[in-house]
Amino acid sequence: MQTKIFVVDRNTPDKKLLCQAANILAGGGLVAFPTETVYGLGANGLDAEASAKIYRAKGRPSDNPLILHIAEKDALYNLVTDVTPSAKALIEKYWPGPLTIVLPRSAVIPNIITGGLDTVAVRMPDSVVARELIALSGVPLAAPSANTSGRPSPTSAQMVVADLNGKIDAVIDAGPCEVGVESTVVDCTTAVPTLLRPGGITFEMLTDTLGAVEFDKALIIKNAVPRAPGMKYTHYAPQAPMTLLEGPAENIVKNLKIQIAAARAEGKSVGAVVAQETATELNPSVKAAVYGPRYNTRMIAANLYSALRYFDEHPVDVIFAEGISEDGLGLAVMNRMRKAAGHRIIKV
Ligand code: TXA
Ligand code: MG
Repeated sequence: MQTKIFVVDRNTPDKKLLCQAANILAGGGLVAFPTETVYGLGANGLDAEASAKIYRAKGRPSDNPLILHIAEKDALYNLVTDVTPSAKALIEKYWPGPLTIVLPRSAVIPNIITGGLDTVAVRMPDSVVARELIALSGVPLAAPSANTSGRPSPTSAQMVVADLNGKIDAVIDAGPCEVGVESTVVDCTTAVPTLLRPGGITFEMLTDTLGAVEFDKALIIKNAVPRAPGMKYTHYAPQAPMTLLEGPAENIVKNLKIQIAAARAEGKSVGAVVAQETATELNPSVKAAVYGPRYNTRMIAANLYSALRYFDEHPVDVIFAEGISEDGLGLAVMNRMRKAAGHRIIKV
């Protein structure tokens, strides 16, 4: 299949092009579209057959449920059987935005969306393009990140094309995503709301609104089974093996130089995913993908996935990455970097 590309303005998208995309979705097709977090791979979320195509195009395990995307808050009530007080508070404060809430599912939702769970994940994105597309489609859109399963999520239409060209009907290109990491996923069915995946709405923002919030065990304990099924799979990984260095910046820089020298002594080519400050300290012959200034976590989140994908275009044998502080968006950034590194983590 030939994948069409619709280029639109992020604030005032051409309605004719969005209508074409909405028609493809109404006909059971797949359209990748921008959100403020990452690009999503959309299908009609009330159509089991259309949603099944998402799993095939991504190579996604069928027990990993999808998020339903809506264009207005009221659309939630048809999809769930209960909107708990914690959910109400979060929706009031953070929708539209990078926050997904998990609630008991209603009967209209096909089993394939929830992977057999009795809950469903719903989010109202902030992106104008996303919301206009959903509204024109007239249905909630099921949309995981628009990458091949296991790869870093796409934050530009070019990254979607790199993974899914020829496998999906169309991509809407509205430029790079502002946030750069996926939405925060919160289970609002538990007595104390539970953070299942850190993301664009920070832990500090959640506790500000809710008071107590629990971490899903899998975010803290290494071998615990996560309640968000997708969190158990290898994810966000570049093609070359990546080792993550965690600790104070000066220790990381010192250790990074030692690791790079050792890998080179073994005849390996090396890539470094690092902060701007660190890149200037490395030997100029080291290939570096810079994710931004060390203490600008917003910029680091926005650039993270393109930095992780850089060495797929410029292949190396091994990658070393610099960890950052877990404050604010740093929690989501470090969650993704640790997954991208698998178990190769060095504390320095
Ligand atoms: O920012 C985002 O959320 C992006 C954009 C496109 O909206 N979407 C996204 O979808 O990241 P995906 O499929 O890559 O990640 C969805 C996560 C997975 O970890 C999945 O297991 C979890 O949400 N999830 C979905 N439904 C769930 C449910 N009923 N209970 C617990 N976790 C659920
Ligand atoms: Mg994903």
